[in-house]
Amino acid sequence: MIKKIAILTSGGDAPGMNSAVKSVVNASLEKGLKPYVVYEGFLGLTNGNFKEVEKKDVKFFSTLGGTSIYSARYPEFKEEKTRKKAIAKMQEQGIDALVAIGGDGSYMGAAKLTKMGIKTIGLPGTIDNDIASTDYTIGFHTALNTIVSALDKTRDTSESHMRANVVEVMGRNCGDLAIHAAIATGAEVLSVPERKLTEKEISTKVKQAREEGNRSIIIIVTENMYDIDSLAKKIESFSKVETRALSLRHIQRGGSPVAEDRTLATIMGAFAVERLMAGENGVAVNIKDNKLSTKDILEVVKMKRQSNDELLRHYDLSK
Ligand code: F6P
Repeated sequence: MIKKIAILTSGGDAPGMNSAVKSVVNASLEKGLKPYVVYEGFLGLTNGNFKEVEKKDVKFFSTLGGTSIYSARYPEFKEEKTRKKAIAKMQEQGIDALVAIGGDGSYMGAAKLTKMGIKTIGLPGTIDNDIASTDYTIGFHTALNTIVSALDKTRDTSESHMRANVVEVMGRNCGDLAIHAAIATGAEVLSVPERKLTEKEISTKVKQAREEGNRSIIIIVTENMYDIDSLAKKIESFSKVETRALSLRHIQRGGSPVAEDRTLATIMGAFAVERLMAGENGVAVNIKDNKLSTKDILEVVKMKRQSNDELLRHYDLSK
């Protein structure tokens, strides 16, 4: 029987993580468990940076951006000796279960703890939407809205000055943020890991877009694919369209979460506690076709993402 449950947020922060924390805390209290927050993810777990919390401590968490229990990138957790230290700290407090909110790296950490005898469950928290087992991750919708709002503003100035603008968005190796944003804003050019354009192809598309009479031309690219300043220069020299470059970087991760993320995080958090109470362990929570489910966390990490072909087809049609 689980008596004490810890919750941590790890990896890149994502708007909505706070709603998940609140939901896990409230669901735990409702079931008679003692909830503990862990500060700074797996780093805090290793150092015993825990605090028992009550309902009132998390009452207004849902409106807050970032993660109020903080996060950390902590590669040292890959080492067994580090994990043993974390387990000892958990045992000192009598904590028998852990909810880990994060992306792939956090899932790996949780899976390794499961193998060492700790009951764990993962919640998908990342703006990238790159966890294959779930339709949406916590944070994706807020980041998408931030990107769309930035693109609308970029469009205003681009149209005024008759320019092209390269806008780089996050996603790591996943084009979801870029593709959804391109559909939502009518970007003229899109290059994502799933359908990467060469610099020459991008320049040619910009030239064509200008010849077709576009004053402003927005080019959305996923991060880690180009040096965007040099890309802008190449576009300009080939197409003769004045071009500027902008990377949205970490503003995409901040801000008060939109309703979709708050709701998703809340239902997933409560579901995680229920599944732990029902005896599940070493699994991650997913939402597919509006239904919550769980899947073995290691299988989730190994899963290949569904192709984005259909979404890209919609982008092509929407232009
Ligand atoms: O995984 C979330 C994410 O924001 C990615 O989109 C990005 O590549 C990475 O984190 C950036 O990480 P950091 O904040 O450590 O630079």
